[in-house]
Amino acid sequence: MSIISDQKGMVVWLYGLSGAGKTTISLLLKQKLENDGLFVICLDGDELRSGINKDLTFTENDREENIRRAAEIARLMLLNNIITICSFITPLQKHRALAAGIIGESYAEVFIECPLDVCQTRDVKGLYKKAQANQITHFTGISSEFEIPANPELIIHTATETPVECMEKVYRYIEPLLKGI
Ligand code: ADX
Repeated sequence: MSIISDQKGMVVWLYGLSGAGKTTISLLLKQKLENDGLFVICLDGDELRSGINKDLTFTENDREENIRRAAEIARLMLLNNIITICSFITPLQKHRALAAGIIGESYAEVFIECPLDVCQTRDVKGLYKKAQANQITHFTGISSEFEIPANPELIIHTATETPVECMEKVYRYIEPLLKGI
């Protein structure tokens, strides 16, 4: 019997500011899990928003709908024993609670923490500059709220650790869950 057919699904939900490093960590984690012989997919805010969710804006309600759809997709993956790494800003506690509620068990939530000024300095997509110049509205951290979680299940500090170190912390956290589920 192959390792893949024994696989149990789980959802790893990475949340945090734009530019915090969610996508980078998700891709490294995917690679690491694939090296273990597991089947993994990544769901990413930018990717969903360029396709299935392109009707949605960044208002609070549309973000909620964005998260709802992403969580429903992740739930379907879970039912098919697939490991899904989700990377969405998921700015409000109620958005995180929504995702957790839809997915249910086999869910791990990871706060990808990075100070706003560091994200602004990185500004990989040039969006913080545009948000500062009011060319983009409702920008998380600038003109739209990001609620710092009161009791994060797991917190990863990307400003002080390398991407690989960050990924390994997430990996070590989910490893027993993957084996124990
Ligand atoms: S969420 O708030 O609904 O969870 P999501 O993760 O899907 O957001 O999308 C965030 C990505 O959309 C950012 O990484 C950025 O590239 C892009 N983006 C475009 N406009 C905005 C905006 N106003 N606020 C935040 N991100 C934006």
